[in-house]
Amino acid sequence: MKDKDIIVTENLRYSYVSDVSKRELALDGISLNIKEGSFVAVLGHNGSGKSTLAKHLNAILLPEGGKVYVAGMDSSDEKLVLEIRRQVGMVFQNPDNQLVANVVEEDVAFGPENLGIEPSEIRRRVDEALKLVGMYEFRNHAPHLLSGGQKQRVAIAGIIAMRPRCIVLDEPTAMLDPVGRAEVIKTIHDLNRNQGITVVLITHHMAETVDADRLIIMQDGKIVADGKPSEVFSRVEEIKSYGLDVPDTTELIYELNKEGFNLPLEALSVEECAQAIYAVFS
Ligand SMILES: Nc1ncnc2c1ncn2[C@@H]1O[C@H](COP(=O)(O)OP(=O)(O)OP(=O)(O)O)[C@@H](O)[C@H]1O
Ligand SMILES: [Mg+2]
Repeated sequence: MKDKDIIVTENLRYSYVSDVSKRELALDGISLNIKEGSFVAVLGHNGSGKSTLAKHLNAILLPEGGKVYVAGMDSSDEKLVLEIRRQVGMVFQNPDNQLVANVVEEDVAFGPENLGIEPSEIRRRVDEALKLVGMYEFRNHAPHLLSGGQKQRVAIAGIIAMRPRCIVLDEPTAMLDPVGRAEVIKTIHDLNRNQGITVVLITHHMAETVDADRLIIMQDGKIVADGKPSEVFSRVEEIKSYGLDVPDTTELIYELNKEGFNLPLEALSVEECAQAIYAVFS
């Protein structure tokens, strides 16, 4: 493995049904290298294998075939599982299932307490994590009274307090309103940019993937596209064949090109798209 890869999977295969006659692969030969410090988004239709892949990245599931390495540690090695879970934190869809305490700061302290960290250090980490997700002023609040986006940021703080090198988020915004979604996406971009934490973001909202360093598309347990979001989305017909939409900007340029224009499909941001169209008329 290259020393800058925090996660490596080699020909990873997994199926849920042990009856061989019914066996369908949920993961069918996934080979993936994730660079430390990168922001990787994963898109795919229902049942394409995204959650199954996510659960392999911190040894919740173990490979049936192939290998998963986290910071060089083989996830199939039982002795390494706790250390792998410390390095890769998971955030799930429903924040209510992830919050355990009656006060925000106690909730964030829960993970580091389980790691056996001493109280003064826990105090420091909890404050730091809550500040990083913008929830410090809510530290004495009851989690159940927070908005969905706030709850999810507290859940993220609980992971951050364990000082992971990577966070894997499996549809963290699926249950949130647009404001909550924006808060969570901004928070994870900040953590990636300012703290260097590697992010793997699984989502159904393609708009959440446009600012990623890399976009992976899954279909039937395989990786079918992998590149910069602007490159991947420019393959409009292929993306649609996977049952996915492309961003509005790409769609607009695609439709204009059908009418005879020759605009760059890679102009993904609203700004780039507007510039490209403006250039034609000036
Ligand atoms: N616990 C399970 N038992 C049996 N089959 C499962 C289980 N979990 C997932 N599967 C199957 O494995 C395949 C991949 O599922 P997975 O949950 O990884 O997909 P996904 O891309 O996360 O889907 P979604 O977008 O709906 O969350 C699907 O065919 C699914 O039906
Ligand atoms: Mg899923």
